[in-house]
This record gives sequence, structure tokens and C-alpha cells, in this order.
Amino acid sequence: MSIAVNNDPPSWLLIFMNSWSVKARAVLSLFVIAWLTGAADGALGQPHSVLDGVFTEEQAVRGQTLYYQHCLQCHGETMAGVDKAPALAGPQFGSTWNNAALAALVARIQTMPPDKPASLAHEESVDLLTYILWYNGLPLGTVPLGTEQEVLSALKFETPAL
Ligand code: HEC
Repeated sequence: MSIAVNNDPPSWLLIFMNSWSVKARAVLSLFVIAWLTGAADGALGQPHSVLDGVFTEEQAVRGQTLYYQHCLQCHGETMAGVDKAPALAGPQFGSTWNNAALAALVARIQTMPPDKPASLAHEESVDLLTYILWYNGLPLGTVPLGTEQEVLSALKFETPAL
């Protein structure tokens, strides 16, 4: 007696796939699409990365207004820094803040301006943060960045790969 050699896909697999109802297959496809588009991420809670778009344009625009009022004179229109004030965007800033929690950056913003530390409201510092994030090339999102400490602690500063 000889053993038959068969190169076709195993028949148990075909039977298994064909036994799925159209509905089950449709549901599975939707899960795959949701996962691929990142919608599953949103459904599970907070976004995990600033690269996903964690703040809105409205926030960044509010931040820009504050920046022009309180920060521009020292850090400059393009955030390149003026005299002793360091840049707030670009590689130098990135190497200082990469992987730091956004909460740490907000705390640093609250030490500014140097002659009036802690003069900004927490919400204003978060608005300023979003403008700084935007200036560092991070994308806008559709949901505003939360001002809660746990939200800001969970997200880390990073910049898009060039
Ligand atoms: C009078 C000038 C001046 C003003 C106004 C000012 N800064 Fe600064 N900023 C500095 C200087 C100088 C430093 C570095 C030394 C220090 O920490 O005091 C600094 C440091 C920083 C840092 C840390 C940068 C790094 O590389 O780690 C951040 C963030 C910052 N400023 C944000 C702001 C924001 C936001 C505002 C507006 C609310 C602001 N600054 C207003 C002078 C200024």
C-alpha cells in the first residue's frame, strides 16, 4: 500500500473557510478595516502617540495667540530662539525632549516666561504645548488634547521621521 502525496491545500482548511457565513466574513472584514485605519485604536481609548494627531487646529491657534503675546520676543517667530533663549522646534529641541512625557513639557512651559513663572493657566500651557507640537511637525487631529495629568503623562514627545 502506498501513501498518496497531495500538494493541494489541506481540505480541512477549505471546509473551515467555506463553513463561515457571509455575515461572519463581513464582520471579520470590518474588523480588519477598522484595525488598518486605526479606528480600533480610538475605540480602545486614548491615542498612543503624538504622531497620531492628538490636538486640534483650534487649540494650536489659541496657543499661537498666547505664544505671540508671551513667548515670541525671546523664542522668535520661527521658534529658532533669540539670544539666550533656546529653540522650541528642530533637532536640538527634539534631542532634549524626545521620549519625555508631555506633562514634563507642560511643567517646563509653566516656568515661562522666566520673569513671571507660573503666570499661565494650566489650560493655556497646554494650548502653548499644542502650538509647539504643531511647529515640530506633528499632525493635527480631530479630538482636542486633554488637559488632565494622566493624559499628558501617558503621551510622549517625539517627532516625525524626516
Ligand atoms: C524673556 C525671555 C523669554 C520669554 C518671554 C520666554 N522664554 Fe522660554 N526660555 C527663555 C530662556 C533664557 C530659556 C533657557 C533658560 C531658562 O530655562 O531660563 C527658556 C527655555 C524655555 C524652554 C525649555 C527649552 C528646552 O530646550 O528645554 C521652553 C519649553 C520654553 N522656554 C518655552 C517658553 C514659552 C512657551 C514661553 C511663553 C509662555 C516662553 N518660553 C517665554 C527665555 C524666555
